[in-house]
Formats: sequence, structure tokens, C-alpha cells
Amino acid sequence: MRNILFLSALLLSILLRAQIIVPTPAKLDLKNGDCLLRRNELVVSADSVALGACSLFAETLFEGDECNFTTDSLSARLLFRVDTFLPSEGYRLLVDEQCVRVYASDYPGFVYAVQSLRQLAQMRGDGSVTFPCVEVCDSPRLVWRSFMLDSGRQYQSVATIKKYIDMLSMLKMNYFHWHLTEGLGWRLQIKSYSMLTEKGAFVASGDEQQGFYTQEEVRDIVNYARRRAVTIVPEIDFPGHAEAALTAYPQFSCFGEPIGIPREGFTKNIFCAGKDSVLIFLRDVLDEVCQLFPSQYIHLGGDEAPKDNWDACPDCRRRVASLGLGDSHNLQRWLSAQMASYLASKGRKAIFWEDVIVHDGYPLPSNVIIQWWNYRTRGDAALKDARRNNYPVIANTNYYTYLNFPTSPWRGYTKERTFDVETLYNENPSYKASLHYNNIIGIGCSLWCDYGLTENMLDERLFPRIFVLAQQMWGSSLPSFPEFGENIKSIMNFFSVAGYSKK
Ligand code: ACM
Ligand code: ZN
Repeated sequence: MRNILFLSALLLSILLRAQIIVPTPAKLDLKNGDCLLRRNELVVSADSVALGACSLFAETLFEGDECNFTTDSLSARLLFRVDTFLPSEGYRLLVDEQCVRVYASDYPGFVYAVQSLRQLAQMRGDGSVTFPCVEVCDSPRLVWRSFMLDSGRQYQSVATIKKYIDMLSMLKMNYFHWHLTEGLGWRLQIKSYSMLTEKGAFVASGDEQQGFYTQEEVRDIVNYARRRAVTIVPEIDFPGHAEAALTAYPQFSCFGEPIGIPREGFTKNIFCAGKDSVLIFLRDVLDEVCQLFPSQYIHLGGDEAPKDNWDACPDCRRRVASLGLGDSHNLQRWLSAQMASYLASKGRKAIFWEDVIVHDGYPLPSNVIIQWWNYRTRGDAALKDARRNNYPVIANTNYYTYLNFPTSPWRGYTKERTFDVETLYNENPSYKASLHYNNIIGIGCSLWCDYGLTENMLDERLFPRIFVLAQQMWGSSLPSFPEFGENIKSIMNFFSVAGYSKK
């Protein structure tokens, strides 16, 4: 009996101590014992590439205590060392009772080790922290792991943007795809076209939040993200979803007339592709975008652009005829190619939504990546087209990576436009395709702010489904759903303490 009691107590203490890391690491070996780190005891020996990750460790776990750097590895309680044999973004973590040792070959690897340590940490009332003794070896399955937030239809505060960048880093997602322009608002300050935000950021007429991000705010956000190993990929959507911009500058539309702002969806009022002034405008905007965002990738949109106006516009028709393009769909390919080439001249890559390749035609340059999204209407047609043309693909299907689709019907979302965490776990076409096709560089997920999805509603759409997506993007395998369901409960506690909530 005493033995049983003793064994139960031991088991309970192991269970209480067993911390979960989400996404699940490739290898996690929990050992006996703990490592206790007290405040003001952060004696760190680190290679220079890891310094930002060390300060993130101190800031997030020890309320901003300073690290005390030493060159004497033997006296250090924390060791951050480069190991060039580890894969990019991967890390190895060794915790014993004396020391926390972190190895990585690059900065993101060090950051991800810190994020795993945050999830393993047990905070004590006196400000000290214990970590279980453990060995973790981990690296991502996919190089592209993104989350898109629609700040076009709804403005969100800078603090909220930072909150989600933090979340991405904690879940080891590496790209924040920032959808900054929409019919309902142009949110990015462009100094050479100041009306874009002076007028175009305030065109909504319902309960939408209005506003824009100054260039100074953007620089601050980019630095904030970089420290957390998150790259911001800005999206300037054209030629469609442009009503806010065209309200500010009607001369860039086909007919120069006042433009109506859509309450939902989009209209046929798109940028004119026949006027040279529009090409100059787009290049000027991209000049400022590239100065603000160091990302190798810039998203150029291209989705949902009805061609009614282009078919009727003398300038667009002239362009189609003079270049022998045949029709307005090919005019979109031509316009897309012009801007992708412009980005290529700056050493950047261009991402387009799949709509740009719906029809074959004018050749796109080799720096183009296609984001596959419209599964509900077109199934895997875009994936097939992209494979045929050797375009790399980001899989972001609206079955089931659109987190704005709620878990139960809501406003414009009927029953068939809902999904739950288990369906996502078992049926996500983006995940399944990513296991089979090597032109898929990664998975994206999106949170569109249609139907008045204001910033205080975002958490409940994200959690807990975002955990599944993070697992599918990063994890080398999927645990069984019941097992992962338990992990979700545990990790949600961590996120709740960090200030996130779910329904
Ligand atoms: C999209 O959902 N319009 C890309
Ligand atoms: Zn036109």
C-alpha cells in the first residue's frame, strides 16, 4: 500500500511537472529534476548571433531583468552557442539542474528555443523560474508558416498587431502576412500619395474601426517582429479591392468617377490597367513599401478583380489591343508581371493570390509565388496550374485555413461556412497537399475581417484552432487527435496567462 501511495505521488509529481510544447517538438525527452533560475542570477554566455534571443528570454521570463554576460562558460547558468550542423530555424535544448544550454545555427533557432523554454517554465511567486530537466531537438517541417491579418477592412491598434506577432513567434510561425489595403480602408501611410490614408483610411460608414499606420509605427512594428524572428510580408492588393484608394484618387480608376465603398465583399471598381499614371503610382507605392519592409517577399494581391470596367474602358482596351493580349484577364497577368518584374529589380519576390493564374497567358517572371486559397469554388485547380508552371505555392485554402469562418453560424457565415478544431485537424486540404507536393513551400492561414469582425473578436476566432495550424505547419508528425486535444488545453492555459482568450 505504501509503495502504491509512493508511486502515485511520484507519478502525480511527474504529471504536474510534464509541460507541453506546441507545436510538438520532433524530439522531447523529459528527465528527472528541475533547473531553478533566480532573479538577478542570469549569468549568460552567448555567441553574438544569439544576443537578441537572450534579451527576449530575460524580458519574457524575468520581467526585463538584465542578463549578466560572461565569457566564462563554466560559471554560466545559461549558454547560447552556435552549432552550424543544426538545420535552419532548428534548435537543441539541454536543461540540467545547473544549466540551460541552447544550440542553434541561426537567430530564429535561438528564438524558438526561448519560446519553448517559455512554455516549459514554471513561474514561482518570488520571481524565480524553474524548468524541467529536458532534452529537446526540433526543427520545422515547412519553411513558410504564415498568418494573415486583414487590417484593411478593420483597423487594429499597434498594440494588437504586436500581440499577434508575439503569438506567431510563440507558435513558431515565421511570416506575418499583413493585408493593409482593402475596399474599406487603405491603412499604410505612403508619403508620395498622402490622400491614400488622409482620405482612404476613413471611408467606412458602419461600425468599422478606421485609421492607419504611420511609417514610424510601421518601422517600430517591423523591428518588434524581427526581434521575435517574424518577417512581415505587407500586402498591397491590386487591381481589385481598391475602392478606398480610388476614393482618394479617382483618376486611377477606369472612368474617374466617385467610387462606392462596399459594405461586404468587393465591387467592379478596380485600378485601371490602361493608364500609365496607374503604373507609375503602383511603382511609387512599392518604392516606399520596400523601404519600410525588408522582407524578401512582398504580396501583390490580385484576388477578386471583376473585369467589367476594363472591358468597357477605352484605355484598357487600347492596352489589350496594342500588346496583343487578347482579353482583360490577360491584361491582369500583364499588369501583375510588370509589378513582379519591378520587385525583381529590387531583389524581391512577388506573391499573388491564385486568381492571377486562373488563365494561362502573358508570362509571369520567375520571382512569383502563388497563394492557393479558393478551394471552396475551384478545389485544387490553382495548385495544379501552379505545378504545371513550376510556381512555388503557399497553401492557404478556404477549407480550413480561413479562421474568420466561425465555429457556428454568424452574420454572413452559414452552417457550411463553419468548422471546428477536429475537422481542421483531420481534413485541412492545405496540410494534406503539403505532405505530397514539394512545390508547396508552406502553409498560410488567414483572418479576414469581413462582416464587422472587430479587434476584440479576434482571439475567439483564433483560439484554439491556430494551435492546430501551427502544428500542421511546423510539426514533423501529427499526434492522434485526442492526445493533441489534451495538449491544446494545456497550451491554452499558457496563452490565457499571456493575455489571450477563447470562447
Ligand atoms: C481571398 O480570400 N479573397 C484571397
Ligand atoms: Zn481602364
